[in-house]
Parts: sequence; structure tokens; C-alpha cells
Amino acid sequence: GRHVAVPAPRTAVGHVVPAPDTDTALPANLAWGRAILSRVPTSRLGLGAVEAARVADPQALEEVLARTAAAGAAWHARPRAERAAIVHRIGAQLEASRADLLEVAAAECGKTLDQSDPEVSEAVDFARYYAARSLELDGLVGGTFRPVDLTVVTPPWNFPLSIPLGGVAAALAAGSAVIFKPATAARRCGALLAEACWRAGVPRDVLALVVPDDPELGRRLVSDPRVGRVVLTGSADTAELFRSWRPDLPLMAETSGKNAIVVTPSADRDLAVRDVVTSAFGHAGQKCSAASLVILVGAAGRSTRLRDQLIDATRSLTVGPPTDPSSQVGPLTTALGDKLRRGLTTLEPGQEWVLRPRALDPDGRLWTPGIRSGVVAGSEFHLVEYFGPVLGVVTVPDLVTAVEVQNGTDYGLTAGLHSLDPDEIAYWLARVHAGNAYVNRGITGAIVGRQPFGGWKRSSVGTGNKAGGPNYLFGFGEVVPAAVDQ
Ligand code: ALA
Repeated sequence: GRHVAVPAPRTAVGHVVPAPDTDTALPANLAWGRAILSRVPTSRLGLGAVEAARVADPQALEEVLARTAAAGAAWHARPRAERAAIVHRIGAQLEASRADLLEVAAAECGKTLDQSDPEVSEAVDFARYYAARSLELDGLVGGTFRPVDLTVVTPPWNFPLSIPLGGVAAALAAGSAVIFKPATAARRCGALLAEACWRAGVPRDVLALVVPDDPELGRRLVSDPRVGRVVLTGSADTAELFRSWRPDLPLMAETSGKNAIVVTPSADRDLAVRDVVTSAFGHAGQKCSAASLVILVGAAGRSTRLRDQLIDATRSLTVGPPTDPSSQVGPLTTALGDKLRRGLTTLEPGQEWVLRPRALDPDGRLWTPGIRSGVVAGSEFHLVEYFGPVLGVVTVPDLVTAVEVQNGTDYGLTAGLHSLDPDEIAYWLARVHAGNAYVNRGITGAIVGRQPFGGWKRSSVGTGNKAGGPNYLFGFGEVVPAAVDQ
């Protein structure tokens, strides 16, 4: 389900966090992050768990690996219904910590409430969905499901709650023990999630939270042969790096996207504009699923009404800090890199700003969303994932060309079509190369159990089993054939 919860203002009680300049665990280190953290008691910030999860050297890592791998066997020997009940209970624990999760996602990742609140709901959905699906792993025809002993879950910082929890809950439900290494920029969130799992009854040996002191320890962790699966959600480059560390790595990876929404002249214009704008600029565009391109077909590309509406809708978004509950576009979670800086500031030949992005703070974290027109097939803006609040407009003569442009990238994660013409819809659905293809809907926010999530081409590595779908748990093990009577 989806809920809206506005966290009540808090007065500081108990301990407050150390001075921000000593707090290297707060990557964004933003003024508004500090404001939140200074009024939330440390006991509710996952700081103790982050500290306890620090792994300083190879020996400490070896201890975690040995302990967790051994615990896996005992975990999958437990009755499946018992495991499912524990995983299901994680949902209630997350609900109970919703306000803390929202505060920490805002402070640590700059996530605005309109984005973080549904993320908690999605995390709850993941726990309950995988608990239910795990009961189906028994009673397979022709075999028995046997999970791996140990799974490493390495999630991203852009969905600091739902994606980590989804990976952890899936592996646990399948019967594997888990080493959970949160993204560096989202480790407080990770700690709160791990604590919710432990409170639900997941034994501490079965779920280890690991915060390595240096990246070399991360490489050792992923490369260790006791690790039976690695769940990675991150960039395609990171997936390739993992593979270079361990060529036979059993990877289940959800990676980058370069996603477009096609709008044809038959589209419901109001709906199309709303969905393009929310898909492009929600969480400041920091989603693998975000719309980075809108492809306008024929008369849609010449329509000044459509263009004006797109500009108005984008301008109407409230850009502001995550401390303000009305903010719809918040800050970038990590420091502005060269690629996104180009996306926000530099036009390629033939392009022009329909709406020029502006930085609202000296660090270049908080940007008003931008729109550029004149993007052509084969240009950098057509092909590169920027991961920020900037949208490119492509105009094409017909739907055939639109699909070519949409499919003409290395990725195939999400794709959208806005059209009210059944023939156009059928044509598009038969040809679009994307794991998640949406008609007359935004292209972010796949719903657990209804829109299993995962990509094609460079957007996915591994089994291709989609998260939040009925096949996902099978990725965490093998089906051992039963003896068959001849
Ligand atoms: N599952 C996330 C979405 O659909 C990435 O937006």
C-alpha cells in the first residue's frame, strides 16, 4: 500500500550526534542534514549499528564471512513457514520506524518526503511479498529449491530504503544468510533497516551489516568464493568492475538506464506532461528508472501548447531542502560530478535550453530542473545516463523513428509511451526494448508484485529475474532435481 506520513516535529532528547565536521559518516554533510540530525536522538539514527558494523581489516572481514556462511545452513534448515513469518514481520518493524527512516533518508541522502515515504511503503511491500512467495518454493514439481548459503547485498544510495530492504528480504526469504553492505552514502539508512530486520527476529548471524573501512575490503568481500550470490543495484560500470574481480561471480545486477517517454499526437496531453515531469524530476532525476528523454512524435513536437505546459509544469515544482515537507525536487545526494555538470550546464551543437537549470546553493547540490531541446540520435545526451534533474527533448517524424531512438542506447530499463491509439500502443509494445514498458503512466515507481522490475541489455546482469516478481527468489539458489521413477 501507499501511505502518507508526515513526521512530527521532534525535540532533541538523549544524545545528539557528534559535531558534523567529525562525522565522516554523513557523506552529504549538508546544512539541512545537520539540522535534522541535531534534533533526532542518536539512538534512533542507526549510529551505534554503523559503528558496530565497521570492518577494519581482512581478518575482521574473514570473521564475518565465516560466521555468516555457517549461519546460512542453519537458516535454510528452519521450516520455511517460520522464516516467512520472520521476513513478513520486518514489514511491521519498518512501519513502526517510518518517521525515523524518513528523517534519516532526508538527512543522509537529501531525499524529500514525497519520495521517501512511498519508499518505506515499497520496502514493507517487498518484505511481505517475498515472505509470501517463499512459501511457493516448496512443492515444486520435479525438484527441491536449495538456496545458496550466503548472499552479499550491495544496494545503491538513490533508493536507500526500498532497494536494500528488497535485496535483503528476498535473500532471507529464499533461505540464504546475508551480508548487507549499504552504499557509503546511505549507511545510516542501511543500519536502520538492519535493525528493523533484527527486531523482527532475523538472527544477527544470519544478517550481518558490514561497513568496510576501505574499498579493498569490498573487493575481497565480493570476490570470496563462499559468497553464493551478489545482489548489486548500481551502475553498469560497477557491475563490470565486480566481474573483473571475480569472472565467475554469480551476480544478480540491476544497473543503469537511459530511459525515454514517447508522446504521440494522440496522447492525453495533461497526463503526458504530468508523467514526463514526475518521471524526469522526481528525486531530482536520481533514479535508474527516470525519464531522461521525451520523444515527441510528429505534431506533438510542433505543439506550442505541449511545450508551454511542459515548461509550466516543470516550473511549478517546488525545489527545496528535504527539511521542507513541501519540497518536490531536493538536492543531489553526492557531490556534482563532471558528467552531470555537463548535463546541467553544457549544450551540444544544435541544442537549446527550453528551461535552463540553475544552482540554488553554492555547492551545486540543489538545482532547478532543466529541459533542453534539439537532442538528436547519437549525441551524448541521447546516449549517456546523467542521473540528475535534466530532460532532453527529441522530435521525430513518426513512431517508427521514435522507437529507433528509444531503443538506440546501450540500456533497456524503463520506457514509456503516451498514446490513446490502440494501433500505436500495439506497435510500440511489440518493438520496445525495455524490461519495464509503461503505457500512459510514469516510468518510475514500479509496484511490487504488479510491475516486476528489471532491465534488458546493459541495464541488467545475471539471471534476468525481476525484483518484486514471482521468479526473483529462484535467483538465490538452484532447483535440485528429485529422483524420478523411470
Ligand atoms: N524500482 C524503482 C522504480 O521503478 C527503481 O522507479
